[in-house]
Amino acid sequence: MSKPESLEEKLKVKLEHRKQNNSFRRLKNSDDLIDFCSNDYLGFSQTLNVKHTTISGATGSRLISGHSSQFEELEIKIAKFHSSETALLCNSGYDANIGLFSCIADKGDTIIFDQYIHASIRDGIGLSKARSFSFEHNNLPSLEKKLQQASGCVIVAVESIYSMDGDCVPLEAIITLCEKHNAHIILDEAHATGVLGDNGEGLAQHLQVQDKLFARVHTFGKAMGCHGAVILGSDSLKNYLINYSRSFIYSTALGAHSLNSIEAAYRQLNVGDEIIQVQQNISLFKSLLSSKLISRLIESENPIQCFLIPGINEAKRVEAGLRAKGLNCRAILHPTVEEGKERIRICIHSFNSGQEIKLCVDCLEELIK
Ligand SMILES: Cc1ncc(COP(=O)(O)O)c(C=O)c1O
Repeated sequence: MSKPESLEEKLKVKLEHRKQNNSFRRLKNSDDLIDFCSNDYLGFSQTLNVKHTTISGATGSRLISGHSSQFEELEIKIAKFHSSETALLCNSGYDANIGLFSCIADKGDTIIFDQYIHASIRDGIGLSKARSFSFEHNNLPSLEKKLQQASGCVIVAVESIYSMDGDCVPLEAIITLCEKHNAHIILDEAHATGVLGDNGEGLAQHLQVQDKLFARVHTFGKAMGCHGAVILGSDSLKNYLINYSRSFIYSTALGAHSLNSIEAAYRQLNVGDEIIQVQQNISLFKSLLSSKLISRLIESENPIQCFLIPGINEAKRVEAGLRAKGLNCRAILHPTVEEGKERIRICIHSFNSGQEIKLCVDCLEELIK
């Protein structure tokens, strides 16, 4: 890279570098395409029956003027739904993770995280004074090696369903290992919320291991179709976050409309059949795949289905071909994933019709060499 002359110049040089690497990100409008891309797995962003509120601004942070009985009642309901001692609502999953991981461990403590962990957790760890190590994705011997090097309070961060692969964490085996090494687990349930468990309670409750985890983070921007997140854990954890989590303390709280939407999403999980529909659509999608496509597929029983297409140009070609057929699917490129592990990510929803799913598979068959 040539020497930048000014800040504006420096930005342009860095952007040019991205363009030359073929990894320049741009915003795409996909309004008229068939949705095989969004995290709206259950269609809640379009269908929730949300109570109308005229005054929706929170007016301040939770510790100043933003708190209300609506927050208190909703946190009690959510804690009960998730079989947790307490719940603390946060403005987003990013906010929840950055606030939690930046304050939960001190100098001398250790945070160990899966190499594919979400950027929000990495960023939170980056702000923490604790030592940190990654372990190989879903690899127990690699985790054990890192546990042996750990000191102080030890925290292990994993996700229920990994967003770039769609595969699940081997949670029970990780619990056994962490018990042996006296480590505490924080589970990010972002992509499992509304998807795993009879009523979408998430992976921990699906396996009935919620009491063995130190904390869980559920986000509402994916299957819940709205916005916000919740941190589940003990009463001490909740009080600790209210006192030490900077993204919680120094940001305006969610407004009443957001709380109404979250409430409506939980209500719908209890009464709707979208979870069964999305599972049926995943089974249909997988049953239509040829052996060629299966050989590219990253094994997943979840709405996220990825086909490895190494090379940025090749993955982009398949994405463009799918768009030309009216299908909104995304190529996931380096640097979001490792070089050579580029992929097309298909997100299956409860509302995708059989015809749309068949069209998607036919196009993948035609486009993937
Ligand atoms: C695993 C995981 N955690 C956290 C987040 C952040 O959640 P939010 O979109 O609510 O900020 C995401 C969203 O991409 C995610 O995939």
